[in-house]
Amino acid sequence: MTNITKDTLTEAVLATIADEADPRFRKIMISLIKHMHGFVKEVDLSQDEWRTAIEFLYQTGEKTTRKRNEFILLSDTLGVTSLIDLLSGQATEGATESSVLGPFYVEGAPIIDNGGDLIGQNPGDPGVVHGRVMTADGTEIPGALLDIWQNASNGLYSVEDPDQDDNNLRCRLHADADGAYSLTTIRPMPYTVPDDGPAGVMLHAMGRHPWRPAHIHFKVTAKGYQDLVTELYPDDDRYIDEDAVFGVRDSLSVTFARNESEDDARSYGLNAPFFDLKYDFILRPA
Ligand SMILES: [Fe+2]
Repeated sequence: MTNITKDTLTEAVLATIADEADPRFRKIMISLIKHMHGFVKEVDLSQDEWRTAIEFLYQTGEKTTRKRNEFILLSDTLGVTSLIDLLSGQATEGATESSVLGPFYVEGAPIIDNGGDLIGQNPGDPGVVHGRVMTADGTEIPGALLDIWQNASNGLYSVEDPDQDDNNLRCRLHADADGAYSLTTIRPMPYTVPDDGPAGVMLHAMGRHPWRPAHIHFKVTAKGYQDLVTELYPDDDRYIDEDAVFGVRDSLSVTFARNESEDDARSYGLNAPFFDLKYDFILRPA
């Protein structure tokens, strides 16, 4: 392999992958190498630009810890995470669309009663989130487990904020025998993804901001059905059309309706006015 030229190099590299390599790994590496070589040729990458890119990846590694993964942030802000989510979740007709899990999920949140409260001592706009868990044909799914988490009125999740209890604004609850679920909480806030590292430098250089529209995260599971990981976004959020991680889908942009009824408020243990978010989750059979 002495006659390497810019025209023969790609084939030479591809030829080094053993035929016996794992077939899926082989397919991925062949495509990756072809795309990387094609990219370098397309932009005619200079030595300086290549060194800048390597330094950028080095800094990305330096910034990364178990709690703060700058590589995932790059994947999120470049739309790769959402693309993989969209490819894997190609919706069964009528099923709820999925969205990204995000970095703030914590397993094992406390189980509260259906109809319970997440507000506690949290300041913010109170409201109720309620609906059913069902199949695409409208059959209720009894006892589905909903794992729910969101940020506080300062824009921070409990895991980012030493002033919040570890389980603040996160819980699990079981839907009832009719698939109905309900809880009271506060309206979530828009927030910025961490922009004090290489991903932030990249966003800034592209002329982009790091904001995500407000949302509540849900993971809905039930025996015999595929797990659903999704987010619900208030449709009047100022960042609804410019999510830094591209997680918003039309069907997940929902109205946090303003309810003025004192009677309704009392039935939820709230004062009027409050926001009233009704949403049915549609699961896909496993
Ligand atoms: Fe989030």
